[in-house]
Amino acid sequence: MMEYFYPEHLKKMFTNRKRELKDLEYTRDSLDKGTLRNISFFGLRRIGKSLLIKEFMYRNPGNIYINIEEIASSPEFFSLRYIGYIAYWLNENGDALPDDYMEINALIKKCTEMNIKALTDAVTKLNLEFSKEKRDHNFLLGLAFTLPEKICREKNKKIMLFLDEFQALAVLKKSPQVLNPFALFRSAIQNQSGTSYVLAGSQITKMRSILEDHKEPLFLQFNVLNIEPFTREDTYELCSKILPGQDTDIFESIYKYSYGHPFHTTSVCERVKEYSEKCELEITNELISQAFLVEVLSKEGNINKFCRYLYDISLEKARGYGILKAILTVLAEKEGTTITEIARGIKRSPQATKKYLMWLEEVDLITKYEKTYFYKDPVFRTWLAYYEKGIELGIMPKREMLKNLLSNLEEKYLRTSSELGRAKEFETKVKLEKKLGIELKNYMSKDGQIEIDLAGKKDALIYLVEIKWKNKSSDYKDIENFLKKTEKSEFSDKEKKLFFISKSGFTSSALKLAKSNNVTVLDRNLEAIEAVN
Ligand SMILES: Nc1ncnc2c1ncn2[C@@H]1O[C@H](COP(=O)(O)OP(=O)(O)OP(=O)(O)O)[C@@H](O)[C@H]1O
Ligand SMILES: [Mg+2]
Repeated sequence: MMEYFYPEHLKKMFTNRKRELKDLEYTRDSLDKGTLRNISFFGLRRIGKSLLIKEFMYRNPGNIYINIEEIASSPEFFSLRYIGYIAYWLNENGDALPDDYMEINALIKKCTEMNIKALTDAVTKLNLEFSKEKRDHNFLLGLAFTLPEKICREKNKKIMLFLDEFQALAVLKKSPQVLNPFALFRSAIQNQSGTSYVLAGSQITKMRSILEDHKEPLFLQFNVLNIEPFTREDTYELCSKILPGQDTDIFESIYKYSYGHPFHTTSVCERVKEYSEKCELEITNELISQAFLVEVLSKEGNINKFCRYLYDISLEKARGYGILKAILTVLAEKEGTTITEIARGIKRSPQATKKYLMWLEEVDLITKYEKTYFYKDPVFRTWLAYYEKGIELGIMPKREMLKNLLSNLEEKYLRTSSELGRAKEFETKVKLEKKLGIELKNYMSKDGQIEIDLAGKKDALIYLVEIKWKNKSSDYKDIENFLKKTEKSEFSDKEKKLFFISKSGFTSSALKLAKSNNVTVLDRNLEAIEAVN
């Protein structure tokens, strides 16, 4: 199913995004019950916005997907394709190529088969307008934007419309007739009752200003959801799909380099897989480092290609290209610097520097935190630092060269990850699964309010587990919170076993409370701890 839109190999890789999928499902349920919600996704490039949409559409057929970047050009072309994609999704649901819906005569033919009056009307009007010498661009866009709701009303349907790379709608401003495409879009989607919109975009700052700026017309109409990099645990899970059977310290190495960014993670894993299969190399931490460096520094590397592309498209439209480059280089050498320091580094005044920094923030390359500047994507920072120095690697670099680069990388460019704790938590999960002989998963209630570290089921018995990996003993409050959580959860009246694992032991009041409530307490090695009376 949806083989064209969402191929099998991607489906198998799909990991995580529970919270986001839940939110989308909630939106779909609300829509079915008559309450309308619109959502907007923000997130860095390649963080997994499109994949998330694909996964949801795969699980929930009957919705519509349009990539605005792909169709944004002249208003004529845009409206034809926008309407074409609506027809395509209703008729094919991503199972075939959309070609037959992208050209007016072919589309007219398809529409006669489909028996949707609103659609036939729109396509007829589109065709008529096309035959005129001077076309009304606002009319054409209106036809496109209002069509989904008309179809919903006619067919008594509810539809979710996914508009990917939404910020690309701005391209329509090129037509002198179209003053503000976002305003047109908004007026068309007002008073809807059958359609929910989900907008996604990679240019975070631009999307934010479109959606949140008071002057812009879409203000306050959308619930905003940030798509973040993966947690350590999710990164491990993704890694284990590409490199099954490896130890967690191998996955930890990958996490250290990728910072949980799913695209970087996938790229490093694939490279390691290739080395191990083609060259029969054993998978070690050293091989992971090699794979990462080759991915970032070799022209063949996918991360390298992506960074190069990001650099080009971000700076291509910029005035003051040379200064922007200089700022990026200064910042690559030392992050967390203030305007004054950067200004000194590029030999400009702080005022002039500020303008350029704002520009770099706008294209999402850098971000400000407490008056100092950082790269948004640390992997991109590493790429740029070496790229600027002209350092390049082949696919099979010499050992000596790798060694030097690696010590330089660790010393200068890796952000220290202080909390090895999460890695341990993951190991604990695996050990506990073995010990109990059941599968355990992180649990979140339907409304997202209750989260339990691990939950599993054996026969009719529910197992609930809390893990605290802190340097401080778990206390009375920790146990009490855990008990309260389980009582409020859907498992409250189920027969259950409760476990509490703590890295640094328990206070005596915690142990007593646990005992009187039948909570099994375990130490870092999963050995049971007895309460002293
Ligand atoms: N949830 C996920 N599970 C597994 N892999 C993922 C996930 N999300 C992203 N990836 C990996 O990262 C790649 C990029 O994802 P995707 O195309 O969805 O990103 P995007 O945010 O839409 O990027 P862009 O801004 O470039 O459109 C995917 O092809 C996949 O390899
Ligand atoms: Mg995308």
